[in-house]
Amino acid sequence: MCGIVAYIGHRQAYPVIIKGLKRLEYRGYDSAGVALLNHGMKLYKKKGKVAALEETTLGQDLEGNIGIGHTRWATHGEPSDRNAHPHVSANGRLAMIHNGIIENYALLKQELVKKGYKFHSDTDTEVLLNFIEDIQKNNESTLEEALRIALKRVVGAYVIVLIDRDNPGTLIAARKGSPLVIGIGKGEHFLASDASPIIEYTKEVVYVNDYEIAIIKPDELILKNLGNERQTPFIQKLDLELAAIEKGGYDHFMLKEIFEQPSTIYDCLRGRLDVTQGTITMSGIQNNIDKIKNANRILIVACGTSWHAGLIAEYIIEELCRIPVEVEYASEFRYRNPVIHKGDMIIAISQSGETADTLVALENAKEQGAVILGIVNVVGSSIARLSHAGAYTHAGPEIGVASTKAFTAQLTVLTMVALMIAKERNAITHERYLHLLEELNDVPEKVKQVLGTAEHIQKVALKYKDVKDALYLGRGYNFPVALEGALKLKEISYIHAEGYPAAEMKHGPIALVDELLPVVFVATRDAYYEKIISNIQEIKARKGKVIAVITEADETITGMADDVLPVPEADELIAPIISTIPLQLFSYYIGVARGYDVDKPRNLAKSVTVE
Ligand code: F6R
Repeated sequence: MCGIVAYIGHRQAYPVIIKGLKRLEYRGYDSAGVALLNHGMKLYKKKGKVAALEETTLGQDLEGNIGIGHTRWATHGEPSDRNAHPHVSANGRLAMIHNGIIENYALLKQELVKKGYKFHSDTDTEVLLNFIEDIQKNNESTLEEALRIALKRVVGAYVIVLIDRDNPGTLIAARKGSPLVIGIGKGEHFLASDASPIIEYTKEVVYVNDYEIAIIKPDELILKNLGNERQTPFIQKLDLELAAIEKGGYDHFMLKEIFEQPSTIYDCLRGRLDVTQGTITMSGIQNNIDKIKNANRILIVACGTSWHAGLIAEYIIEELCRIPVEVEYASEFRYRNPVIHKGDMIIAISQSGETADTLVALENAKEQGAVILGIVNVVGSSIARLSHAGAYTHAGPEIGVASTKAFTAQLTVLTMVALMIAKERNAITHERYLHLLEELNDVPEKVKQVLGTAEHIQKVALKYKDVKDALYLGRGYNFPVALEGALKLKEISYIHAEGYPAAEMKHGPIALVDELLPVVFVATRDAYYEKIISNIQEIKARKGKVIAVITEADETITGMADDVLPVPEADELIAPIISTIPLQLFSYYIGVARGYDVDKPRNLAKSVTVE
């Protein structure tokens, strides 16, 4: 949520910042702004996307080798020019960008109002900024000292970056709970919420830790903790190519990412799954296998699409490993004082690795002694670093706000984890184990086949583009696929959609069914096949429209449904990775046909770093 970029060095800061903000727009896009220092401070802010900011700055003075920029996802105060960041302090000396939430801002604001401060925005950011300014003035301290004092009183999450009109050679940044990467160039530094604005300039980066303050000059980076002790920056090499964060000829990132899935799933399997040897190698899991295989219970903690992956993993792990699994919404888990037993293991699933609810839920659980296994996409992210062990999903950067390739990569990794545990526990026969290895190995090819039917999926999607509601139903492994299908449609097309276990329909939702309601069944051939056919008939008997994801050449359902989206046959345990693909494309084509920005759906942001 909110993207931040800052630059200090020998280049012009503005182009670096604008380009970076465009790369970070997936994090928020309701307003944007930039502040530059060059013989004084220049500030430009605009409601809307970064392109609107660019228009505002046409013909303006954009000179300066130091600057900060922000793209916003509103928390305090509506999206507007005045609530856009950067904010400037009362005396006009400091400018600041912020990603996160200052929870005690109201109290701090009261104190400042009593001292005569006036506020020009509704944001918590402006409050924190003036709080820092106030300390700096009263104590006659340096900005760094004032910041340190201020942060000791702040409750909440933040990455902040400050510039000081009277000290134009230094950027100051601090982090707690939200991500901050610093790129190290030759005589220049780049700051950003993730590495995407940085990679075209340098591959050497430092991930700033919680409670650290960074003092950055063109040729110097100093990290300190809040106790003013120097910390050694840990420089890492980025394993990311520029092409991975560009559209590569596709109309949208979402479409590119859907079509990348044969290769992202392959990348996820590569070097891990060996069908000929009959092995799965994931060192993060292997090194901790005793703790993992002896877990009394597994708790899966995640949000959104990642939570759906967790639901499918619950079915797979219980089936293969015979360990009880509970799947928790991180936002509920973190607040409800959950019972965590010795011997419980937590699997955290997160694409971004920065989701605030998931992160805090894990911190709490870790304090109580739980072992954390992270299934994360973004390398070096907070959740990856907090986990005791884990496996990366290797899906590459996911820029479309709606998760697609990260979901299928999560399922692939989770299935491999389940197979490793099952084998270690002797809970699976060798034949079944080998069969599932082969099935997993075939997934990239089968996904490719589904993508080959994109034109057909588009035709079907266009028939339903004007509906107001949709119901998604599935049973067993396909039930969470239905949930995920419904979520994708909501996010991308703004059509109200609900997912349900198909058998639950008659306990309520069936009342919605009429000739206008499309019901999407995930009805591939599995143990529930006969049952789901009955559910389809129940919908047809009430004149509902049925769209069914089926196993190819299924004449029975083809004869009943209004439209079918065939997928290749697969073991029921593996099938969700494949049957989710037509639902992603279905939502994509409807969203595009309705004229929406599918990469940046309204009100959403990719990385939810506020609770
Ligand atoms: C939906 C979507 C969100 C995320 C959720 C968790 O398409 O992208 O529901 O899945 O915000 O995010 P991560 O996986 O980054 O923790």
